[in-house]
Amino acid sequence: RDQELERLLQAHEWTAKLFHYLLKNTEHGKPAMEYLRARGFGDKLIDQFQIGYAPDRWDTLVQFFEKRSFDLKEMEKGGLLSSKQDGSGYVDRFRGRVMFPIMNRSGRIIAFAGRILGEGQPKYLNSPESRLFNKSRTLYNLNLAKSAIRKQGQLVLMEGFGDVIASWDAGVQHSVATMGTALTENHASLMRTLTEEVVICYDGDNAGQAAALKSIPILEEAGMRVKIALLQNGLDPDEYIKTYGAERFASQVIDGAVSTTKFRLIYVKRNYNLLEEDGKASYAQEALKVIAQLSSPTEREVYLKELSTEVGVSLESLKQDCNLMRQTLNRTRPQGQNGNRSSGNGNSRK
Ligand code: UTP
Ligand code: MN
Ligand code: MN
Ligand code: MN
Ligand code: MN
Repeated sequence: RDQELERLLQAHEWTAKLFHYLLKNTEHGKPAMEYLRARGFGDKLIDQFQIGYAPDRWDTLVQFFEKRSFDLKEMEKGGLLSSKQDGSGYVDRFRGRVMFPIMNRSGRIIAFAGRILGEGQPKYLNSPESRLFNKSRTLYNLNLAKSAIRKQGQLVLMEGFGDVIASWDAGVQHSVATMGTALTENHASLMRTLTEEVVICYDGDNAGQAAALKSIPILEEAGMRVKIALLQNGLDPDEYIKTYGAERFASQVIDGAVSTTKFRLIYVKRNYNLLEEDGKASYAQEALKVIAQLSSPTEREVYLKELSTEVGVSLESLKQDCNLMRQTLNRTRPQGQNGNRSSGNGNSRK
């Protein structure tokens, strides 16, 4: 048995309990509680996600660990303390932040994310990587979400902690989030052990949409079917739920998630003005590049038909252009690699 690992897990559990207590039962915690209330966190959510507060002091945890004879150096390695610049001792790493414990798949706390109250940098401070915590293998809320993921046959992938918690509260309980890092192959294969279908539900702003575009191939390579949830006006899932309600989030955003091809077309479209002839022609060119990637003639025809209506060009002309493009694609494709994409089923790439 690895004793150090076990001690670090214990320390994380104690820390979460302490922060949770300080949030709920002390004067120190009041501003944090008010902040959480203003964001719509009720007692039930605060308990379920074991949310806490790290007071704005240098030695809350230092004192706590000293009293319980934890080795401070070990706690520093585990990311709960920082060493003083002059090397003369240790201080708390998390100060004046709302604390979200990060659990591993079996529900043990392996790290924290601390959010500043209101504005300030960094907005979220995460535990550093440690023997316990590997960001590229951790998905927030996987422990609570895994049974819902199996039941729904689907996983919803989000950007933020607040998004996952709001989604859970709205009854969409199969959501998880990466830890403020890009999606990795490790994340994708971890997801694939639970389900074949993933709905990317990143923020509706440009950064979120660009990140979605990057995540698609990683998920497809892992053998997953990918759909994309569309959030208008740059909202993130949390803000969307607060604005439009749980019902509409579940039925329109999650159940209305579109194919990756549809998403690529929408993504391309935002750069053109379809009220102008020029805009239509340029959009058509870019859209054809997306459609030409599809290996299934049926799928190509479905999207070409839509495009035909949108830009007012006959299906015949679009088909011709599309086929020309496919010939070029086939000629330029590196040997031994099948770059065809299918929006319907990620497994078709195997
Ligand atoms: P966002 O900037 O979209 O934050 O970053 P958010 O989740 O909507 O946060 P709220 O609603 O203002 O509280 C998305 C995710 O990126 C990571 C966090 O995981 C965050 O949830 N992030 C963001 C960091 O790790 N550090 C940061 O300083 C900012
Ligand atoms: Mn509680
Ligand atoms: Mn964002
Ligand atoms: Mn966000
Ligand atoms: Mn947010």
